[in-house]
Amino acid sequence: MAFDIDVAVIGGCGRAGLPLALAFADRGLSVLAYDIDQDAVEAVSDGRMPFLEEGAEPVLERVLSEGRLEASGSPAKLHRAEHAIVVIGTPVDEHLNPDIQAVTSAMEDLAQHLVDGQELILRSTVYPGVTRKVEELLGRRGLDLDVAFCPERIAEGKALSELYELPQIVAARTERSLERAEKLFGNLTAEIVRLEPEEAELAKLFTNAWRYIRFAAANQFFMMANDFGLDFERIRSALAHNYPRAADMPGAGLAAGPCLFKDTAQLAAFNNHNFHLGQAAMSINEGLPLYLVSRIEQRYDLPEMTVGILGMAFKRGSDDPRSSLSYKLKRILRFKAREVLCTDPYVSDDEDLLPLEEVLRGADLLVIATPHDEYRGLKADAPVVDIWGVAAESVRV
Ligand SMILES: NC(=O)c1ccc[n+]([C@@H]2O[C@H](COP(=O)([O-])OP(=O)(O)OC[C@H]3O[C@@H](n4cnc5c(N)ncnc54)[C@H](O)[C@@H]3O)[C@@H](O)[C@H]2O)c1
Repeated sequence: MAFDIDVAVIGGCGRAGLPLALAFADRGLSVLAYDIDQDAVEAVSDGRMPFLEEGAEPVLERVLSEGRLEASGSPAKLHRAEHAIVVIGTPVDEHLNPDIQAVTSAMEDLAQHLVDGQELILRSTVYPGVTRKVEELLGRRGLDLDVAFCPERIAEGKALSELYELPQIVAARTERSLERAEKLFGNLTAEIVRLEPEEAELAKLFTNAWRYIRFAAANQFFMMANDFGLDFERIRSALAHNYPRAADMPGAGLAAGPCLFKDTAQLAAFNNHNFHLGQAAMSINEGLPLYLVSRIEQRYDLPEMTVGILGMAFKRGSDDPRSSLSYKLKRILRFKAREVLCTDPYVSDDEDLLPLEEVLRGADLLVIATPHDEYRGLKADAPVVDIWGVAAESVRV
């Protein structure tokens, strides 16, 4: 079967899918970005990025003008693509249960648009065993596709450099499928690492849980030192100074976002909820906003104060508010303080946000929740609580 599209990215206008689509198109492949989000499809078709991604806008313009990328809200052309890559969301629900059907139920709907001879590549971060389920599902439908699992490992916002720099994990059960996926990702990176699908599924979850646990260790050390009246950052930078064995200890900070917590929860669920280290990390990281507010209350008369929160995105330089602990901080402070004012230079889909100047003018106390560069060296009339150490001056709580 001859295919006239090289790659279809399913979820191709999302935070992980769109940069991948752009990267393949920029390497000369013809790419279809299929997505059910019509607004995002429209934006991409018009040459507008639906979210911030470093360096993406010129690439989008280029690949559109050269006819190598098409965004579409219809799955009708999926059968024309040699490779179909699935990068849809794989969330956990409010009870921390992973939606283990997210990928399989999308595939139930999409199977009618797939044809024999294609390669289906799962790239979403999946619950272990999902690749096998998808293989079985396709088999039941009588479809003869090669299947691979090639996890996405970029950091949001850095995709268009990291996709070309990071080694690519490629996992499949047949040599042909491995070779096809390797050839495809060989367009982006020279370094390919092979695993079995179940190994690769765990590799991705271990990576995120590992990162999350490291942040939790630092946050626990911070709370320990702080309760003892000491400055964690002073201790951390001293112990890491010219001492490689501890040089990778992260600073303290709100560790959040759409991936680390969710994937630690997926791993806990996978292991029958016996993942003490991961669960401890979740309770430490998610508890940090509560800890900060409890310390603030000891020093300030919160019910009489207007508190300003600087930074609502889940990390520095990002416009992504998903699972941001800034919003948890906001909820707690709204309960405790007279009023809460919030600002962020990048987040654009929260109509409660105010310009920075207004928050600086109106707040009796400021909390830096996200260490955006805009807050580096911040000087304010009101006291600043700054766990990140970016402000020129801050108060210890
Ligand atoms: N965001 C990241 O930086 C990142 C990094 C590594 C891995 N991941 C993983 O990638 C996956 C996607 O995450 P994301 O952050 O890009 O989420 P996202 O919500 O930004 O993107 C998912 C996209 O899929 C679309 N979609 C959902 N169901 C669909 C369907 N049935 N058909 C077509 N399109 C559909 C959505 O409209 C959305 O645009 C997750 O499994 C995540 O864990 C994300």
